[in-house]
Amino acid sequence: MTPMTTPVAVIVDAVGYAQAVEDAVKASAAYYSGGTSALDDDAYDRLVRGIAAWEAGHPEQVLPDSPTGKVAGGAVTGDVPHTVAMLSLDNVFSPEEFTAWTASLARRVDRDVERFSVEPKLDGLAVAARYSRGRLTRLITRGDGTAGEDVSHAIGTIEGLPAQLAVPVTAEVRGEVLMTTAQFEHANDVRTAQGGQPFANPRNAAAGTLRARDRAHTVPMTFFGYGLLPLADTGTALAARLRESAHSDLMDQAAGLGVNTTATTAVPGITARTVEEVLARVQEIAALRPELPFGIDGIVVKADLAADQRAAGCGSRAPRWAIAYKLPAVEKITRLLQVEWNVGRTGVIAPRAVLEPVEIEGSTITYATLHNPADITRRDLRLGDHVMVHRAGDVIPRVEAPVAHLRTGDEQPIVFPDTCPRCGSGIDTGEQRWRCENGRDCHLVASLSYAVGRDQLDIEGLGHTRVVQLVEAGLVADLADLFALTRDQLLGLDRMGETSTDNLLAALAAARNQPLSRVLCALGVRGTGRSMSRRIARHFATMDHLRAADAEAIQQVEGIGTEKAPSIVAELAELAPLIDKLAAAGVNMTEPGATPPTTTDTAADGGTVAAQRPAGPLAGMSVVVTGTMTGPLEKLSRNQMNELVERAGGRSSSSVSKKTTLVVAGEGAGSKRVKAETLGVRLATPDEFAALVADHLD
Ligand code: IVH
Repeated sequence: MTPMTTPVAVIVDAVGYAQAVEDAVKASAAYYSGGTSALDDDAYDRLVRGIAAWEAGHPEQVLPDSPTGKVAGGAVTGDVPHTVAMLSLDNVFSPEEFTAWTASLARRVDRDVERFSVEPKLDGLAVAARYSRGRLTRLITRGDGTAGEDVSHAIGTIEGLPAQLAVPVTAEVRGEVLMTTAQFEHANDVRTAQGGQPFANPRNAAAGTLRARDRAHTVPMTFFGYGLLPLADTGTALAARLRESAHSDLMDQAAGLGVNTTATTAVPGITARTVEEVLARVQEIAALRPELPFGIDGIVVKADLAADQRAAGCGSRAPRWAIAYKLPAVEKITRLLQVEWNVGRTGVIAPRAVLEPVEIEGSTITYATLHNPADITRRDLRLGDHVMVHRAGDVIPRVEAPVAHLRTGDEQPIVFPDTCPRCGSGIDTGEQRWRCENGRDCHLVASLSYAVGRDQLDIEGLGHTRVVQLVEAGLVADLADLFALTRDQLLGLDRMGETSTDNLLAALAAARNQPLSRVLCALGVRGTGRSMSRRIARHFATMDHLRAADAEAIQQVEGIGTEKAPSIVAELAELAPLIDKLAAAGVNMTEPGATPPTTTDTAADGGTVAAQRPAGPLAGMSVVVTGTMTGPLEKLSRNQMNELVERAGGRSSSSVSKKTTLVVAGEGAGSKRVKAETLGVRLATPDEFAALVADHLD
């Protein structure tokens, strides 16, 4: 398990200390009132640890409102006194710190603690529920630990906290009120439907909901009990029994009375005899955390026996017999920079948040899921927003909600696409999850449209609409099927006359003769765009040579490193059936003017592929083409110019640098020409260049 490595905020002087205390008090007030703090839990813990560290060195300067001396710094205090103080818990963050705590506990108790109870630390709000002869009469928040706020209005809205116990006892049940993930989603639906700002996370939602008095709609919450104690008018026998019961017994009794406890969850409280057993359980709970339907922020370990608890006693802030083993924070606040729209295999168009990188549980998070467009609207997200990001375990990080009070007014609306971002077709917005109207064929339409494009197979007459039509008619299921299209099939299509059919068939026939570089590019091998496809094609000269190459041989091509080479090999293997089908359909698989690499056997390594020495008038030159081409080059697109450069042995590039050897400057050439002049790079007009590469013009 990742130990919690929250560094301490460094405070250097009294001014910094005062500011830190002020920030912590503000954050704490927001935390307890259901507002959203500008600090996430991790940042808050860091700040408080920094404050404590500074106070340790300056005990005479400790400020009265410092969060270190409080049960709950900044808590909303109420006027209902607690019978017994509702304490907080001290924290440990690693097995070492935990082991040290057990040792100090053993010293205090004067013996090894016989039994520990280990249960999840539920991430909600502490409440005390007073039962009188079995009836729930009063619900009080923790407040400052001595007195809390009366929130009895919430009785009846909290699952697991029955209005009537199974046995008519008088006692106080203590525990945590929280919202499960589903309850949180529901609470935000209700809130935003009423025009309110969504809560940033379940904890905030529970805090806000618990304190809200006159809500038109009540939203459910959940209670987990972790304490059962006598009240002033509890009968003496029961009071004595409760005082003498081990914590694990009390939990059984609470469950028996009808109160919800962790026993109903995937992480029930257990007892353990040794530190090792406790740590093993901590690991188990941590591992289950991502799948739990509610938030936990640690594990609470208690001396289970009443006698041990009594012997250990309590400090002013926390009991000495219990400790919170904190787990790394799974929520952080960061900024939403962009929203990307990705089309999945089945045509689902899913928004993805691009975030200012933030570290959660040791990994840097840059992307988070936003589920669907309705979710964005529901959460009222805007670009530039501070957002609460949640990530537990290997689960995909998600944006929970914007931290609305941190808005500056510069936030921008998120623009939804109106055509499929992959294939350009319409979008079916009928369901929550938007889908490309082409569904599963979206990928096919997009990849075919790319393959027939001007810089790939350059098949005129095959625009987007026509591709969609061919796919929908079931005539084309892959690139090779295009070359099998018959005149009759094409004539049978809507809006396809004789002339268009003949033109398309002629374009398809011509496309069969495209050089290998363009076929490769049309195949859409990941990581190989136009210029990389050309380099590969020139290096291997034929598809057969390329397919025979292993990762090491592919690395001989300039620009292909150890990472890319294996993935190209793997993709080519995956594409093998399609490549075979294309070859069978008569598509050219060679690169004109290129010669295949020769294999030179050496005794040492048993054979390596010799790197190709490019030949031609531009051999060894790095060439940049800019401006509009004229004369013999007039009709050439930029891509075709680049192809020409490479056919003539040069390397094409799009930016001028000291390494550039030649700049072909056409009409209207601007900054690249100026840069070439400044750097003293050789310049050529289109005519001069045409003369230079005359032998290589088609
Ligand atoms: S025992 C005197 N058990 O964590 C003992 N507390 O950070 C204090 N909490 O104030 C409570 N789960 O609100 C206990 N299983 C659990 C808990 C738990 C969550 C909360 C509780 C407490 C806070 C301290």
